Amino acid sequence: MYSEKVIDHFSNPRNVGKIENPDGYGKVGNAACGDVMEIFLKIEEDKIKDVKFRTFGCAAAIATSSMSTEMILNKPVEEALKLTNKAVAEALDGLPAKKMHCSVLAEEGIQSAIEDYMSKKDKS
Ligand code: FES
Ligand code: FES
Repeated sequence: MYSEKVIDHFSNPRNVGKIENPDGYGKVGNAACGDVMEIFLKIEEDKIKDVKFRTFGCAAAIATSSMSTEMILNKPVEEALKLTNKAVAEALDGLPAKKMHCSVLAEEGIQSAIEDYMSKKDKS
């Protein structure tokens, strides 16, 4: 039921881990199932220089987290904010309909980490 790309990113997820003193941090939970994603961003001049994540969730949640970190690395934050769960699912050659809700975790995690970065920036 999963594409080869989903299986690849689930078996060998990219950018797993954490970053000490991140410029942006987000932690989101999926209301539908209780799975959780944490995301850490290193940002320089509004560009994402490093990204790490930890997802406690199902195969689709881990694969979409992994793919989404690759899609935002070295991108301006404005662009990363616009990444949709649909675009991530497409980059993985699709997800089963029942697993689409899992991809929302990565979209919301990235948005929440960027919002954290922006609110810190406003204060400084
Ligand atoms: Fe979380 Fe799917 S319910 S693993
Ligand atoms: Fe919970 Fe996939 S079933 S994120």
